Amino acid sequence: MRAKQFFIAAAIAVGLTTGATAKEAPNYEEHILPILRESCGQCHRTDKTSAGLDVTSLAALERGGDSGPAVVAGVPENSPLYRAMAHIGSESPMPPDSPKVADAKLALVAAWISGGLRLTSADAGKAQKQLVDIAVDPVALGRGPEKPIEVTATLPPPTPLKSARALPIMALAANPWAPLVAVGGLGDAVLFDSTTGSRLGAVPFPQGEVRALRFSRSGEVLLMAGGKPAVSGNAVLVDVRTGTIIASLGDEFDIVLAADISPDQSLVALAGPEKLVRVYKVADGTVAYTIKKHTDFVTAVQFSPDGTTLASGDRAGGLFLSAAADGSSPRLLDGVVGGVADVDWRRDGRALAVATGDGNVLVYEPTKGIIASKWKAHENGTTAVAYAADGRLVSGGHNASSRVWSADGTKVCETGGLVGSAFRVAFSYDGKHAFAGDWSGVVRQFTSDFGATSHELTQQSPQ
Ligand code: HEC
Repeated sequence: MRAKQFFIAAAIAVGLTTGATAKEAPNYEEHILPILRESCGQCHRTDKTSAGLDVTSLAALERGGDSGPAVVAGVPENSPLYRAMAHIGSESPMPPDSPKVADAKLALVAAWISGGLRLTSADAGKAQKQLVDIAVDPVALGRGPEKPIEVTATLPPPTPLKSARALPIMALAANPWAPLVAVGGLGDAVLFDSTTGSRLGAVPFPQGEVRALRFSRSGEVLLMAGGKPAVSGNAVLVDVRTGTIIASLGDEFDIVLAADISPDQSLVALAGPEKLVRVYKVADGTVAYTIKKHTDFVTAVQFSPDGTTLASGDRAGGLFLSAAADGSSPRLLDGVVGGVADVDWRRDGRALAVATGDGNVLVYEPTKGIIASKWKAHENGTTAVAYAADGRLVSGGHNASSRVWSADGTKVCETGGLVGSAFRVAFSYDGKHAFAGDWSGVVRQFTSDFGATSHELTQQSPQ
């Protein structure tokens, strides 16, 4: 099942990049051996095995070289052969001191690995090898807060729009324990009841545009961040029950694009066009540490549910896991193509989902740092991804759609009726509803099992 699905996704990719006629699944003898012979055979053949590797038979590839098997059925990025030839990650780029193998050939190798390493056209292919166990751990899902979360304050109505058209939805968050959804706008974030879709009121953000929203893991605190592009960036922490501001943090030189609060509510991470992640101490507002590994706008940042790790991703595709306490030992995760648009940790911390610019959803096993599964979610780029508590996912894309996936990447349903891109997505606390915010400023609420749109959340109305 998995292998087949991977193959379909990869085969579409091949078809698109090469316009190739190969309708059948690529196999070793006909498609892969000729490529390897030509580009690698000079140094990796039976009588000359550089690094112990012989690429001229499938058995030899599976046996591999000095560092172990060169190919593993399933995700190409987990196979050293593909990583070396696609110049991904820590492997020495191959062939050494020569141009990279053409993209069309790389795509064929990727499709062959995804399709289960078929030897000949008659071969059915191997099932994806289970490299990592990312089954949902029920114990690690955590318990909710002791006191139920209810908004007791009377919140003011949303700020009226100054222009005829609403801003695209660039911030959206669902409370993990209560029927509450927050939608960011210009000058405030609006809270909705996620079951009925009714509007509860607005939490003001006079600092500018709200570009990042997160509820704390406890559900008790709402983090709002944003600012004014190229001028200033700020964040505030709001008590969800009373609507009062607990802390105000950050003094950035540009708008904040991504933000998160640590599970123990002691740290807040802010990131954006400065190509940095600045982590502030909530207690006194000082900077605890700064992550400087990114080479482009940082578009996503999130603490792991156990609070030990901070994930951060940028527009160039840099994806790092750092120690959340002090930002030390940043680890680069390989495999992102087209930039990181969004990340979300699964509630039990055993999986990290990443939305990528080339249209995929990647699911990493974070301790090993390898891809556990990967699928094409949106043809023109995946813009957002979020987990439900039970491990299902919702994604948004540039193709005006939002899709719900089972944990293994099988499509459950999708919603239409969106305009342009679905920039932000979320799941309600009970997993019954999914939300997608689009380019035209509308948030659609849809039932996550069959995709029927039940509500359109209108955040602001023109004055
Ligand atoms: C000019 C010789 C040469 C060519 C051509 C070449 N390699 Fe290599 N390869 C080496 C050498 C030398 C090493 C070991 C040193 C290193 O890792 O840089 C190596 C190591 C490797 C390894 C690591 C094996 C292990 O288990 O440690 C892989 C994988 C690999 N090559 C794949 C390829 C692929 C795929 C191609 C063709 C696209 C290729 N190589 C082309 C010389 C070559």
